Amino acid sequence: MIIAVDGPTASGKGTIAKALAAHFGLPHLDTGLLYRAVGRQVALNGGNPDDPADALVACAFPDSLLDDPELRSEASGGLASRVSLHPGVRQALYERQRAFATQPGGAVLDGRDIGTVIAPEAPAKLFVVASVSARAERRFKEMQAQGRAVALADIAADLEARDARDRSRAEAPLVAAADAVLLDTSDLNRDEAIAAAIAIVTKAAGSC
Ligand code: C5P
Repeated sequence: MIIAVDGPTASGKGTIAKALAAHFGLPHLDTGLLYRAVGRQVALNGGNPDDPADALVACAFPDSLLDDPELRSEASGGLASRVSLHPGVRQALYERQRAFATQPGGAVLDGRDIGTVIAPEAPAKLFVVASVSARAERRFKEMQAQGRAVALADIAADLEARDARDRSRAEAPLVAAADAVLLDTSDLNRDEAIAAAIAIVTKAAGSC
């Protein structure tokens, strides 16, 4: 079974996708990491993330880059969001994601366009959302725990800018698939969000 988990940044989709993969015994792909690797590779190449040609060259990043802890930084997230606008980049990353999604036995993928573009046939689709304030608060706590000094207002502004860019791009914008189930995690703790996601997927699996 393919499980598609989409949603905006810091909505909890990554945590939910990992938990679903463990629960259903499926492999998991965090597709945002691929876009982050392209963004980081552009920076390493000294290129411009807004230039389609520079971004396309960076799609040939080495697999070892996926283990770089720098990919988890806010800077890499911002770069990822910029390179992800280019249709050539999305095309270059499509096959890799599609092959992962269609492997025998199924898989869990999280991202922005899994249910709409990468695996529209997925029988289980979740669109995970949360209010900007809930998401900013979570990010703030994560960063504090890592000993990074950041202002809550800056995090919220960054989230909103990234959401706006992801939602308004022409190619594969961030949008819920018509058959996705919306899961709002604003008022849920981690365990409650995971339990709700498992219930949604179990129901979807039962009806396919
Ligand atoms: O999910 P994450 O925050 O790691 O994604 C970083 C950026 O990569 C997103 O803001 C989005 O612009 C892009 N992305 C995308 N399509 C995906 C996954 C991520 O455009 N499937």
